[in-house]
Amino acid sequence: MTTALITGATAGIGAAFARRLAADGHNLVLVARDVDRLREHATELHDRHGIEAEVLSADLSTEDGIEAVERRLSKPTQPVDLLVNNAGFANKGPFLEVPMADELVMLKVHVEAVLRLTSAAVTGMRARGRGAVVNVASVAAFVPRGTYGASKAWVVQFSQGLARELVGSGVRVMALCPGFVRTEFHERAGLGTERIPDWMWLDADKLVAAALGDLARGRAVSIPDPRYKALMAGVKLAPRGLLSGLTSKTGRKYGPQ
Ligand SMILES: NC(=O)c1ccc[n+]([C@@H]2O[C@H](COP(=O)([O-])OP(=O)(O)OC[C@H]3O[C@@H](n4cnc5c(N)ncnc54)[C@H](OP(=O)(O)O)[C@@H]3O)[C@@H](O)[C@H]2O)c1
Repeated sequence: MTTALITGATAGIGAAFARRLAADGHNLVLVARDVDRLREHATELHDRHGIEAEVLSADLSTEDGIEAVERRLSKPTQPVDLLVNNAGFANKGPFLEVPMADELVMLKVHVEAVLRLTSAAVTGMRARGRGAVVNVASVAAFVPRGTYGASKAWVVQFSQGLARELVGSGVRVMALCPGFVRTEFHERAGLGTERIPDWMWLDADKLVAAALGDLARGRAVSIPDPRYKALMAGVKLAPRGLLSGLTSKTGRKYGPQ
């Protein structure tokens, strides 16, 4: 039986990964800050699917939190076969209005934690000759807009580079780039969603099923929906200047209200 460790497993995309992986028979290590919620999910998944679900309370914006997860990932007696670096959030408002402390917390969770946890996991995976890492980025990685997009662009570049380095090692690394997904993400950040058209919303369970399909196919970057694949193909062809203008207009329309 294999074990998957998922960060940000209390809600949204992380909880959907936990449901799907438990249904597929994987043991789980569920990581987030809200330990009561994690315990509730762990019990439910254990009872429903007969898998072992461990709970690890960690705030990935802190040194202690990152270290606790690094330690769990490095345990040779309880190897982790799949790491899903999913924990994340948005800050409300344009760059100059967001307190610097909040921007730095974002970089700690989206960049430093992803970097360190990937390193801790992949070291053992490579020695065992098998394993995988899914780093949850965003389609925001492909458009020049704010610290959120920049941090997710780092996740994509980092994952692609490492995936290439690990070819032939038995270890896969994939950046997952969703569009808008119905989760707690927007509400937690205080972002209005009423102007986002229905067709742009993705379902977290379907997203996870498509992502795991892409991982099995060996993709280094997954944009798991035809609508967003088409949009991102257009983005790749558009000149950078035009893109900045368009994304700040779109940001005003669909972004924080
Ligand atoms: N929803 C979207 O439209 C969308 C689109 C593209 C990409 N994404 C990305 O998808 C990932 C998951 O987001 P989601 O939409 O599922 O959001 P969500 O429903 O708000 O869930 C976020 C998860 O991250 C955890 N988390 C947040 N800060 C944390 C911290 N400091 N330490 C540990 N855990 C933390 C939360 O748990 P606790 O509060 O219990 O710690 C929660 O489990 C994020 O990386 C996000 O950037 C989301």
